[in-house]
Amino acid sequence: MSEKKLTSYPKEKINILLLENISETAAKIFHDGGYANVVRLSGALGEEELIKQIKDVHLLGIRSKTKVTKAVLEAATKLQAIGCFCIGVNQVDLKSATHHGVTVFNAPYSNTRSVAELVIASSIFLIRRISDKNKAAHEGIWLKESKGSYELRGKTMGIIGYGNIGSQVSVLAEALGMKVLFYDVITKLPLGNAHRAHSLQELMQRSDIVTLHVPETKQTKELINESMLAHAKKGSILINYARGEVVDLPALRKSMEAGIVTGAALDVYPWEPEKNGDRFETPLQGMPNVILTPHIGGSTEEAQASIGEDVSDKLFHFLENGVTIGSHTVPELNLPPQEGTHRILHIHNNVPGVLSAINSTLSSHHVNILAQYLKTNEDIGYVVLDVDQELSAKAAELLREVKETIKVRMLY
Ligand SMILES: NC(=O)c1ccc[n+]([C@@H]2O[C@H](COP(=O)([O-])OP(=O)(O)OC[C@H]3O[C@@H](n4cnc5c(N)ncnc54)[C@H](O)[C@@H]3O)[C@@H](O)[C@H]2O)c1
Repeated sequence: MSEKKLTSYPKEKINILLLENISETAAKIFHDGGYANVVRLSGALGEEELIKQIKDVHLLGIRSKTKVTKAVLEAATKLQAIGCFCIGVNQVDLKSATHHGVTVFNAPYSNTRSVAELVIASSIFLIRRISDKNKAAHEGIWLKESKGSYELRGKTMGIIGYGNIGSQVSVLAEALGMKVLFYDVITKLPLGNAHRAHSLQELMQRSDIVTLHVPETKQTKELINESMLAHAKKGSILINYARGEVVDLPALRKSMEAGIVTGAALDVYPWEPEKNGDRFETPLQGMPNVILTPHIGGSTEEAQASIGEDVSDKLFHFLENGVTIGSHTVPELNLPPQEGTHRILHIHNNVPGVLSAINSTLSSHHVNILAQYLKTNEDIGYVVLDVDQELSAKAAELLREVKETIKVRMLY
C-alpha cells in the first residue's frame, strides 16, 4: 500500500509495548513504518503490573514468560493484537482473547530447520557411538575401534509425524543417501523417494533410526511404549525431539538394556526443570550411547532472528491492512488493499444475521461498500470492509451500533 492512501489512520496514537527483551529489529520495523510510540522493556511483567500497563496499549509483544490472563485481557480495552515472539501460545488465554476480539500471532515454524539439522547430527553421532568415545577421551581413555560404528548411507530413517519438521528431516536424510519411511495419521505427499509406512509397527520393524515429530495429543501420549518397542528392529536408534510425553522412558531403558534399541537422543522429557541450573532427572541418565539435551532442538540464533522477523511482519501487516493470516483467535483473512477507499475492521460475536445488519445499516445511510470479506470461527466473525472515503467516519460510527459488535477499527 502506498503512503498516500494512508489518510485517516493516526499512527501516532497507536501504543506498542514490547516485553521480555524482544529484539530491537522488531521495534525498528514499527518505527520505520511510522509507529513512534514503541516501548521496549527487558523483563516480563506479572499479572498485576501488566493490568496497570495494558490500559492504553494497542499492540503487545511478549515471549513465553508473560502470562496474558483473562483478567489482563479484561483490562486491555484498547488491545488489538498480541505477538508471541516464540513458538507456542500457551501463555495467552486464547478463549478470552477470542471473546475480546484480540488477534494472537506467533512464529510456529521458525525453528523447523534447527530441529531437523540436530536430528541428522544426532543420528550420525549415535550410529557411530560418538558420545561414548567422546566421554572416554575426556576421561583419558583411548577407544579406537570400528566395531559397532556405521554410516548413515543406505540405512532407513523412520519418521513418525511427517509435518514441517518431519518432512525437512526427510529431505536432509535422503541427501545423505538414506532411505526414508514415514508414518502420519494424515495422508501426506512423500517428498523425494520417501515411502509411507502403512502402520507404526511396520515403521518400527523396518527403520534403523526412528525419529519422532508428532504433536502432544491424547493419541500421541506414550505412543512409543513397551508394546511398540517390541516391534523395534534390533540395533535401532530412537530420537525424540518432539514432546516428552510421547515416549515411555522406563520402557525405552528396558529395551536398551535388552539390546534392542542401542542408541537414543532425547531433547524433551515428561518433566522438565523450569530454569537453568535446576536439578534434572531422567531414567536414561548413565546409559551408554544416549545423548541427552535440555530442550534445545529449536534453539539457535537463526531461529531467534527468524521468530523476530516473522512475528513483527505479521503484526505490521495486521496494523497496516487488517491481515490476520496466522492468527489463533480472530479468523484468518487477507483482503488486498483497494485504491481510493477507507478500510474498517469489524469483529463481532458469531450469531446469525450480523453481516446482513452491517449491510443494511450502511446501505440505509448510502455508504457504498467497495469490497467486503467475512470469515467466522466458532465464536466470532471478522469483517474487513472497504468503503467510500467521504463516508468512512460515518460508517465506523454506524458499525459500532450494530448488535453483537465486539470491536470496530478504522484502519485507513
Ligand atoms: N525440541 C524442540 O525444541 C522442538 C522445537 C520445535 C518443535 N518441536 C516439536 O516437534 C513436534 C513437531 O513439530 P512440527 O512443527 O513438525 O509439527 P507439525 O504440526 O507440522 O507436524 C506434526 C505432524 O504429526 C502428525 N501426527 C499427529 N498425530 C500423529 C500420530 N498420532 N501419529 C503420527 N503422526 C501424527 C500430524 O498429522 C502432522 O503431520 C511438535 O511436537 C513440536 O512441539 C520441538
